[in-house]
Amino acid sequence: MTKQDLNTITRLDFSKKLKQSNLLEPFLAFLAFTLAFCLFVACFVYLNSQTLIFHGFPWFKLSSAASPPPPAPTVDQRLGFLEKSGDTDGYCDVYDGRWVWDDNYPLYQSPDCPFIDSGFRCLENGRPDSFYTKWRWQPKACNLPRFNATRMLEKLRNRRIAFVGDSIGRNQWESMLCMLSSAIPNKDSIYEVNENPITKHRGFLVFRFADYNCTVEYYRAPFLVAQGSAPMGAPEGVKMTLRLDLMDRTHCQWVDADVLVFNSGHWWSHEKTTNRGCYFQEGMEVSLNMDIATAFGKSIETLLNFVGGQVNTNKTQVYFRTYSPEHFRGGIWSNGGHCHHIKLPDFGSNPDKTETHVEILSRVLSRHPRVIETMNVTPMTYRRQDGHTSVYHFGRGNETEPPGEDCSHWCLPGVPDSWNELLYARFLEWESVHSTPML
Ligand SMILES: *[C@@H]1O[C@H](CO)[C@@H](O)[C@H](O)[C@H]1NC(C)=O
Ligand SMILES: *[C@@H]1O[C@H](CO)[C@@H](O)[C@H](O)[C@H]1NC(C)=O
Ligand SMILES: *[C@@H]1O[C@H](CO)[C@@H](O)[C@H](O)[C@H]1NC(C)=O
Ligand SMILES: *[C@@H]1O[C@H](CO)[C@@H](O)[C@H](O)[C@H]1NC(C)=O
Repeated sequence: MTKQDLNTITRLDFSKKLKQSNLLEPFLAFLAFTLAFCLFVACFVYLNSQTLIFHGFPWFKLSSAASPPPPAPTVDQRLGFLEKSGDTDGYCDVYDGRWVWDDNYPLYQSPDCPFIDSGFRCLENGRPDSFYTKWRWQPKACNLPRFNATRMLEKLRNRRIAFVGDSIGRNQWESMLCMLSSAIPNKDSIYEVNENPITKHRGFLVFRFADYNCTVEYYRAPFLVAQGSAPMGAPEGVKMTLRLDLMDRTHCQWVDADVLVFNSGHWWSHEKTTNRGCYFQEGMEVSLNMDIATAFGKSIETLLNFVGGQVNTNKTQVYFRTYSPEHFRGGIWSNGGHCHHIKLPDFGSNPDKTETHVEILSRVLSRHPRVIETMNVTPMTYRRQDGHTSVYHFGRGNETEPPGEDCSHWCLPGVPDSWNELLYARFLEWESVHSTPML
């Protein structure tokens, strides 16, 4: 991919130079043209070899309206998501697939959606390309239903959907607000019930869609389990603890929601726990040497037990959206790590090793299948190195942001929309299985 970027950059620089020379020297101009042409062909062959769906790709930033009409698409033989041919034969792993270029995307435009943090508004913050908004996730064995906001809102009527987790969960929640609100012309009929503004500093935010009496909620609980001050008599150096055996204190607010979407992972690091004097506690016991992986596994056990015992899973759909990979190059966020130069997804193969968080999560959740459904977006997201907010996360100067690039969060519209399309597919499937047919 970097080779690809280099090609593109070289070609653009070159055409600039070509213009500057004003074609004074015909031989040079001819040479330049030949070189540019060769590069173009090389790019074309390279991309084509990646079986990209190719039409409408905005070379030289031509608007897609100006490009020639796309070739007729080949007839797609894949089944629709809910058209299963048999009980097990029609099984489709929706998380196994590829990213394809789709001119019908994005599903909304950020200036039309008032519910996005300034930190995720890449367009408004100056990102010049919009390629990252154009990729659709295509599962190998079936087609996803096209997202229909009206349909989803109708099914959410008088119900609640809650996203519980870290700031990547908020990223996904804002994406869902935009996707759903695209069907509502009067945006004033969608409002935060406590009139709080969307910022990363709020513990929870609840948006009501008045026309449907439904709420789309976000709870900040980056560890999912409770964090608190150190117990009396804790060893020196223990400033705080994570209660691996207790749910985050927001749990009583979301326990009765109709759809729950959990996520966690980015905060389970030394940097955000033990390095800050935050250790792991069970009962009254604080452990100074429990490793992060063990602690994370225990937190997921606690979540599983809580959902199994306290959430009515006949009424509530419960999902866990897996770890969203970061793509820092040349360092971490605090020492110059970057990703802003990456404009295309990674079309190579998936890493052959499973992400540790996902491994732990799957191991624990599989003890009681069907309580919490795993949405394994990690492999698909791993390939979307191009979708991060990178240098375009600076809200127009007024929020005090750290100076580094952000290669963890995602531009909106962008990658979280695709997670939500998968959520939509799962949601429809659940509804079709659980709804009692009307007589
Ligand atoms: C979206 O869903 C609504 C309600 O179910 C339906 O009336 C409408 O035709 C759908 N739109 C599309 C484009 O399928
Ligand atoms: C609105 O939705 C809530 C659940 O979110 C429900 O308890 C309430 O009865 C609904 N109100 C009406 C008027 O249907
Ligand atoms: C859920 O549904 C099953 C089967 O209909 C029933 O046996 C079970 O008691 C229900 N659980 C709850 C909590 O309502
Ligand atoms: C940024 O802050 C300044 C002064 O506090 C204010 O005048 C300006 O309008 C703010 N800009 C935005 C985009 O909020």
